[in-house]
Amino acid sequence: MTQPDTTSLVDLHSHLVPGVDDGARTVREAVESVKRMAGEGIHRMVTTPHIRASLTLEPAALEERLSDVSRAFDEAKAAIREALPAVEYLRGHEIMIDVPEPELDDPRLRMAGTSFVLIEWPRLQVPPGTTRVLEWIVDQGYRPIIAHPERYADVPDNPGILSRWKSVGALLQVNYGSLSGRYGTAAEELSFRILEWGMADYLSSDFHGRSGLRIYRQEAWDALAERDNGAVLDTLCRINPSRLIDGLDPLPAPPLASEPRLLRKLRGMIRRRGERVRGGSS
Ligand SMILES: [Fe+2]
Repeated sequence: MTQPDTTSLVDLHSHLVPGVDDGARTVREAVESVKRMAGEGIHRMVTTPHIRASLTLEPAALEERLSDVSRAFDEAKAAIREALPAVEYLRGHEIMIDVPEPELDDPRLRMAGTSFVLIEWPRLQVPPGTTRVLEWIVDQGYRPIIAHPERYADVPDNPGILSRWKSVGALLQVNYGSLSGRYGTAAEELSFRILEWGMADYLSSDFHGRSGLRIYRQEAWDALAERDNGAVLDTLCRINPSRLIDGLDPLPAPPLASEPRLLRKLRGMIRRRGERVRGGSS
């Protein structure tokens, strides 16, 4: 495989605004985390603190929250500029959709101020009416990106929902960690299928900025090594996220070559065995 250029990767999902969610806790932790991202070849990033969509319907509370995030972001940005002048540290949010009609007109809610919004469904489950919510967001003039679709409990048994989401204009962001087995077998298998179907638009870290956590960029790339001539990773990790920062829609990623059936079967057997052993020892 020709490895794509690893000096200009772009990441669209992380929790590296200090002290505002379950990600990096201090400016120092944010700087260290960004340094680790840069060590993985990621020199541009849109970091995405958690926010609840219901807050967008409460103007005073929303303003308070966005001001807090802005203050912490600006402080971290100044420290990052000094320590890592080559890194571009931008921000968006990961918006948890707990109401069907969020107000997304404040650009601070969106990805680097563009019309793209990163969203997630609550409690890693797909609630009823998701397609309608997506249509509503698109009708408002915004472009929804669904964070880690492979991780929702109901999607592996019902992957047709991915086509429905895409058919109304949603984009899909797969996590590096899913391709490395970080979230279990179902998410791992579905993450590969999404790439094989050519349905993924972005690959990102969802890095939570703490020293014990991993970014999984290298592990994910290694997992794809035999099956990508470089074009899939280049599209999902560099071209498309760069385009987002410029306000442009993603390019379709070439489908990942599917794994020979026998190999896939063997890999599944080994994994299930590993899970049994781990289950037995806990
Ligand atoms: Fe996240």
